[in-house]
Amino acid sequence: MQNFDYMTPTRLVFGEGCIAKLPEALGAIGRKVLLTYGGGSIKKTGLYDKVRELLPDFEITELPDIQPNPKYDPSVLDGVRLCKENSIEVILSVGGGSVLDCSKAIAAGALYDGDPWDLISYKVRAKAALPIVDIITLAATGSEYDCGGVISRTETNDKIGYMDPHLFPAVSFLDPTYTFTVSKKQTAAGCADAMNHIMEQYFCEDSSLLSDGFMEAGLKSLMVNAKKCLADPNDYTARAEMMLACTYGCNGIYSLGNSPSGWPCHGMEHALSAYYDITHGEGLAIITPRWMKHILSDRTLSRFVKYGVNVFGIDSSLGDYEIAEKAIQETYDFFLSIGIPMTLREVGIDESRIGEMARHVAENEGLENAWVPLTEKDIADIFTASL
Ligand code: NZQ
Ligand code: ZN
Repeated sequence: MQNFDYMTPTRLVFGEGCIAKLPEALGAIGRKVLLTYGGGSIKKTGLYDKVRELLPDFEITELPDIQPNPKYDPSVLDGVRLCKENSIEVILSVGGGSVLDCSKAIAAGALYDGDPWDLISYKVRAKAALPIVDIITLAATGSEYDCGGVISRTETNDKIGYMDPHLFPAVSFLDPTYTFTVSKKQTAAGCADAMNHIMEQYFCEDSSLLSDGFMEAGLKSLMVNAKKCLADPNDYTARAEMMLACTYGCNGIYSLGNSPSGWPCHGMEHALSAYYDITHGEGLAIITPRWMKHILSDRTLSRFVKYGVNVFGIDSSLGDYEIAEKAIQETYDFFLSIGIPMTLREVGIDESRIGEMARHVAENEGLENAWVPLTEKDIADIFTASL
């Protein structure tokens, strides 16, 4: 087991009706609030009205219309401007991971005099950030319990994971009933994203019985509960268990003491979303089984055998490579069974920019240091195999 130094300062408030505590939690931080949200789902679900009702004595400035794969320009820039113009004290993010990620970049930019992209691109490290409170409405990213956010800059085809310890939310509210309205497409994509967060940590050199068991349980919970949520969107227990399994996703808690893996599928998927604006979880579902096939070897075999036997219950008396190949097929079949389009062409991506994307990933994502190092050619081959 490797040494680690771990701290998560985020207070999690979980369960039906939990946002009743919002005025107390927010009031303890500040009264001048930037309320950030997306394209309108919170208005359709009634959550917007509920939040406004709970906060009559707060001074609220709004930043609506934050799009999926949140954009640096306009959303981050507009949010930073509004914070500075209105001496905002706290950001309240209400929506999915895109809204919260954008809010994290705004929180850092609001206390920085230069171009916020200096921070996101790590040219300059943030010295402080505005506090963030969030109400998460989509079970997927785990942004509610980590200090990262993924920001897209379309003009340069950049989609960067921006992480900084100042960006942990102060308080995250997780009420599963607010995920009842999540579409089948987004429920499936959220499941694929969260499963991939676990697989990115599971496929590594050094692991432990404890963390393997935790991650295997997380994968099984996500697969069982995603199917239940697709069958009955209002299944509170299934939505609740799926939400918590997602929350742990990028926090590091699943793999404390393990060796780092380099998160190769995310490195590759960020290019797909940056160049083609596709749904992140779908991009991951498409490339993961192809990445698995690409890296299966004598060196990685034992991880695939453990994964296949413990997650899919494959017969352990079969040959190791047979178990591994079955496990990869089961992974592909599961994503297909929850309605995810399993080729790049189905999400509008063809071979025309594969070379350019592979080069972009090889130059920016550090996958030469992944558990199984990937070269530009490896990346291009995985994209091609995913067509
Ligand atoms: O924009 P609105 O109207 O809110 O609609 C959203 C959006 O269209 C809708 N939605 C959200 N909650 C809903 C709902 N519709 C009905 N009912 C609800 N309760 O769903 C659509 C997608 O929302 P989005 O926030 O984009 O989805 P998600 O939460 O999956 O976030 C995806 C973003 O997170 C990043 C991804 O790269 C992507 O940009 N990630 C963030 C991570 C992190 N911070 O740790 C890690 C992840 O690996 C991921 O990269
Ligand atoms: Zn992800």
